[in-house]
Amino acid sequence: MSSPTLIDNSITNNTIIWDKSSLPDKIQTFDEYKSLYTLSIEDPNRFWKMAAERLNWYHFPTKIKNTEFDYRTERGIDIKWFEDGIINVCYNCLDRHIEKDPNIANQIALIFEPDIPTDTHHHITYGELLCKVKKFANVLKKHGIKKGDRVTIYMPMVIEACIALLACARIGAIHSVVFGGFSSHSVAERISDCNGTIVITSDFGVRGGKCIPLKSKIDQALLMPECNTVKTVIVFQRYYGMENLKDDCVERRKTLEWVNGRDFWAHEELETVNDICEPEQMNAEDPLFILYTSGSTGKPKGILHTTGGYLTYVNLTFKYVFAYNPGEIYMCSADVGWITGHSYVVYGPLANQATTVVFEGIPTYPDVSRFWNIIDKHQINIFYTAPTAIRSLMAHNDSYVTKTNRQSLRLLGTVGEPINPEAWRWYCNVVGNGRCPIVDTWWQTETGGFMITPIPNVWELEAGSATLPFFGIQTQIFDEKTRKPLEIPDRGELCIRDSWPGQARSLYGNHKRFVDVYFKPYPGYYFSGDGCEIKKNGYHWITGRVDDVLVISGHNIGTAEVESALVQHVAVSEAAVVGYPDPIKNQGMYCFVTLKDNVLESDELRKELIKTVRDVIGAHVHPDIIHFAPNLPKTRSGKIMRRILRKIVEPDIHNLGDTSTLNDPTVVDELIRTSPRTK
Ligand code: WT7
Repeated sequence: MSSPTLIDNSITNNTIIWDKSSLPDKIQTFDEYKSLYTLSIEDPNRFWKMAAERLNWYHFPTKIKNTEFDYRTERGIDIKWFEDGIINVCYNCLDRHIEKDPNIANQIALIFEPDIPTDTHHHITYGELLCKVKKFANVLKKHGIKKGDRVTIYMPMVIEACIALLACARIGAIHSVVFGGFSSHSVAERISDCNGTIVITSDFGVRGGKCIPLKSKIDQALLMPECNTVKTVIVFQRYYGMENLKDDCVERRKTLEWVNGRDFWAHEELETVNDICEPEQMNAEDPLFILYTSGSTGKPKGILHTTGGYLTYVNLTFKYVFAYNPGEIYMCSADVGWITGHSYVVYGPLANQATTVVFEGIPTYPDVSRFWNIIDKHQINIFYTAPTAIRSLMAHNDSYVTKTNRQSLRLLGTVGEPINPEAWRWYCNVVGNGRCPIVDTWWQTETGGFMITPIPNVWELEAGSATLPFFGIQTQIFDEKTRKPLEIPDRGELCIRDSWPGQARSLYGNHKRFVDVYFKPYPGYYFSGDGCEIKKNGYHWITGRVDDVLVISGHNIGTAEVESALVQHVAVSEAAVVGYPDPIKNQGMYCFVTLKDNVLESDELRKELIKTVRDVIGAHVHPDIIHFAPNLPKTRSGKIMRRILRKIVEPDIHNLGDTSTLNDPTVVDELIRTSPRTK
């Protein structure tokens, strides 16, 4: 294994460009990586044509790359890949494997691991999955859903959620998955943003041993006037056909509200359809899905991904970064409500004919051995999870890990936030017994797939570094003040020069915001919103968000959303939310709250405010500190200076920076005096 040097992009010097007519099955040496990387930058058309050849197209594209990355041009931001290609994502994830080799019909596609370990787990083959997807696609068609329609999916992490995604892809409907932890208000906001006409849900989900009433949250959402476009709700039964239905679930099912003519049981609908359903022939740039993510201001952004480029990108990144071998069992612990679930539970693995685990539960239930028990139970070879899970598990005695076997593991991966070297080493040495490489993959909802990541056994790893860019990805750091590009080694704001096939094309219904957020900060570049240090050897160290987005336990949370939730409480006049470093969750959420006159501060009120945030946004969003602050530091024009609040809670009170523009500088001293973080 060689240790690479990528100083000032010298990679392109003395490197032989790849001269074969197809891509290798695996990247095996650093020279091979360099050669292909150089090709991917110097001749993206040739590189991505070869990558697209890994898929089956009805019409293979004659045009590969056609992108404009500079908003100042007449054309403006416009991203098209494989634009005259015709393809179907579902066909590429299922049918084609079986058409190539009928035996694959018997290969396990999905392994379902339920929240409660003693509940029935089941395996579903490629053949069975295809049949179920076709039938469910026919249910959607029966309810009038056709190409281009938006379908909101609000499901627990069960096989039926994957079936719903694939069925949409099969008929060309655009899915919008909303994580099951989101509140009815948040679901309503997302349904109305894309004018959805149909919702797919489940009577309830089970997580950490608790019943989560999904259908009734949909009922509440649909009472809101902005959701009156929804005509149909299809409801799966969580324990359909299983013996071990929990008593409280039986009770809940009895009391479920039902709107005749709007609500339909999935299992009843499935009995009315056959399993013949030809995949829809989609243009490569037809939308595949919308996925909402938090922004630093305003409402959530509907990230729009399209068909051909997205699938080409997740197919290739999954293959190379996990060095996937046929027959291996792969598990990613993410929920399908997030991009990681889309790209690396469903589409990437299935497009590679992999066997992928669908895990309904959480890492700490019934105890902190859960992951390691699952690894043994299903003989998992590749395991991919979030640093926050690793940190919370390493806080317990190692015996929870060491009492399990884990010999099946070959490779470990992480995603979602920076992984600190201690957690990296524990994951490597204790979980992986020092045998398994770790791929620390940096990417985003917007990027579709891995951007900066190791390729296992090809270059040396450094604990805490996502290492080097994937094929086609050119990174550039900028100085946030001068806005000038920086030479490496240095630290700055991370941008990407030029397009890659997996990237989002727009924000649903709001291209202007897409351009403003991602392309205006550094003209000619995609702006990631993350800080990054690039060291002398070219290795990338992500330092975290540089905008008003918090990354807590691997979830993106916009501070503006939390602030607007807080001010919905009658007692609150103003709120400012900032993050502070947290050893387990990456960041903690600190809320400065100014109460209305004559409202008394109390712990009761604190609890109510926390509940308000959870009710308004979702149960996975939890303020850690509520600091009642009669005054907030403001500029003379009345703008809250979050920069100073961040310094107070970090705490880094000796480097507050310029406070001369403050309206009343004594406010800052008062906050420092009363903050629990500075005590
Ligand atoms: C943000 C994107 C992409 C799937 C999960 C989250 C942070 C993600 C890493 C990593 C350091 C990371 C960044 C990024 N992030 N992976 N390996 N090292 N930070 O997707 O919700 O769109 O969040 O997660 O801050 O911008 P997302």
